[in-house]
Amino acid sequence: MMKAARFHEYGGADVIRVEPVPVPEPGAGEVLVRIAATSFNPSDTALRAGRLREVLPLSLPYIPGWDVAGTVVTGAGRWKAGDRVMGRSDAGGAAAEFAAVPATVLVEATGFPDLATAAAVPVAGLTAWQAVIEHGKVTAGQRVLINGAGGGVGGFAVQLAKLAGATVIATASPRSAATVADLGADEVVDYTRSTLPAGMDAVINLAPIGPEEAAVLATLVRPGGTGVSVAAPVQGFFSFSARNDPGQVAELDALAAKGELRVDVTETVPLDGLADLHRRSEAGLTRGKVLIAV
Ligand SMILES: NC(=O)c1ccc[n+]([C@@H]2O[C@H](COP(=O)([O-])OP(=O)(O)OC[C@H]3O[C@@H](n4cnc5c(N)ncnc54)[C@H](OP(=O)(O)O)[C@@H]3O)[C@@H](O)[C@H]2O)c1
Repeated sequence: MMKAARFHEYGGADVIRVEPVPVPEPGAGEVLVRIAATSFNPSDTALRAGRLREVLPLSLPYIPGWDVAGTVVTGAGRWKAGDRVMGRSDAGGAAAEFAAVPATVLVEATGFPDLATAAAVPVAGLTAWQAVIEHGKVTAGQRVLINGAGGGVGGFAVQLAKLAGATVIATASPRSAATVADLGADEVVDYTRSTLPAGMDAVINLAPIGPEEAAVLATLVRPGGTGVSVAAPVQGFFSFSARNDPGQVAELDALAAKGELRVDVTETVPLDGLADLHRRSEAGLTRGKVLIAV
């Protein structure tokens, strides 16, 4: 048996329980991973509340945790026992001591001396990569506005846009401003007080904004520029759900290994703290990446 956080029904944060469950039996092509950590993503609360059940129905009881960082116990494919791995498990399951994960979604975790930190990367890093590089097509010399830079995706987006050679204007409230500047933003604008700059080559929206803020963002892109939103519809912007791409996870890990990508880990909570973490996220009280150490 192992310890896992799971819920048996959709509902509020109270449905999350930490309980003994059988260690999963890896199926064909699956690796059994001893989890070092997973990380929290806001979609975890939507999954738990059942708000995504039309598009992503869960098999209940459900163990959350899409972000995987850990050590292989039973190998499959290219993996053998003892390998340090990271990746996105689209079936969840990483908020537990062990998870069975398809061998093909894992990559070697080399960039983080503390393996738990690698759990911050897959979901948020893939989203940032696809928003900034693939769909935003951010290139050297551009002026790019990153809205919602204080969040888990935002920390990666700021760094990736800087690595692409752009001038980055990032929005952050006072609680996140210093960190966002430290991650490389050239200018930080307080979205709670200031007018956002217009004439941007690209605007990347990572914040769950309402229609009024969305209408403002839509005016900030220069004619012929690019708008991308991962969190709310914005007129004229490209919206998408980040796909699982192990090659991109490996590229993010390689950047970390070279010291070119850092992770904004704001706190690490135990499995027993997961329900409280969901409550705090839903109250807007979390920022950056929160690890759930197992
Ligand atoms: N489409 C996809 O595939 C995909 C994938 C991952 C995430 N998402 C979505 O993307 C969003 C960001 O994810 P995340 O993990 O970065 O979330 P997060 O860590 O909770 O970050 C949200 C951040 O947004 C900022 N924010 C809140 N209201 C804002 C506003 N009105 N204007 C500007 N910034 C505001 C806050 O920054 P301050 O700290 O500066 O106040 C906060 O730190 C979430 O809505 C998530 O569900 C979508």
